[in-house]
Amino acid sequence: MTSSVTVHDTLPEDHFAERLHADVRAGLTATPKSLPPKWFYDARGSELFTRITRLPEYYLTRAERQILRAHAPDIATHTRARTLVELGSGSSEKTRVLLDALTAGGTLRAYAPIDVSRTALTEAAESILAAYPGLEVDATVADFDQELPIPDGPGPRLVAFLGSTIGNFDTAERATFLSRLSAALTPNDAILIGADLVKSPTTLTRAYDDAQGVTAEFNKNLLRVLNRELDADFDASAFDHVARWDERAERIEMSLKARHGHTVKIPALDLEVGFSQGELLRTELSTKFRRPRLAADLGRSALTPTHWWTDPQNRFTVLLARPTERTR
Ligand code: AVJ
Repeated sequence: MTSSVTVHDTLPEDHFAERLHADVRAGLTATPKSLPPKWFYDARGSELFTRITRLPEYYLTRAERQILRAHAPDIATHTRARTLVELGSGSSEKTRVLLDALTAGGTLRAYAPIDVSRTALTEAAESILAAYPGLEVDATVADFDQELPIPDGPGPRLVAFLGSTIGNFDTAERATFLSRLSAALTPNDAILIGADLVKSPTTLTRAYDDAQGVTAEFNKNLLRVLNRELDADFDASAFDHVARWDERAERIEMSLKARHGHTVKIPALDLEVGFSQGELLRTELSTKFRRPRLAADLGRSALTPTHWWTDPQNRFTVLLARPTERTR
């Protein structure tokens, strides 16, 4: 049988190695120290993240799934999408809820996942193709930090950016991302964003510091990635997992905190990095939103939200937005 999965990969072979080197050098020589969260996700990191999504404290995935199950038919009606573009394809379960609704609506022709991982993409694309015979599956390997290659596909296109990944950007990065996204859309296209909402600090910090310590393991996995990829000698037991709520910025900041002063060697970068006792290495931002702030952010990038859905407990939102109509 011929498969109709196409995988576009225009990134040079060494793209991710080069990005990792540049990110680690920049992040560990800066004050305060930080690393981008995208390096969490090697095979073990992805597995740990899957375990996080099943933790009692980590309500985000369940809340989003609840919203999608309840409102996928509305999403299909409002968008009449012929192409579903998915940024950071991740769990294909959410995708299937959308694909089912768009299939039932009779409009769907193509599915276009975009992800940083060629292996994850190929696997996801193939399992989707098997479940939706006749669907055109067009996968693209891309690094969102650099570019946002939204495929042409038959319109209208619905671009889904789920899982609260939008929360990982700081304010400036979010503006850049939304503007790129907006520029790639035509007036009939729409975007679907899943975002976590501001709630009690206790609920939020627990979601990022679970009782079983899975999130701590996930956080420390970053050090294993650096040890393997850069031949570094990080000792995970020299760091504590920290998740704190920044009230002013309304975001969770996840860090690794040095238990004592020590030095880490990173031979691949010809670098030695000193940590003082109690020093924080920030590994992730998870911004939590209020509707007005998110609407304002979208507005500045010429996107207008048209629908907001939430779960019954108002923990999470899935919103639909369109390019703002230009008056001329
Ligand atoms: C998948 C990036 C949205 O920020 O909530 C889970 C990742 N980090 N627990 C998030 C994560 C710690 C997650 N995102």
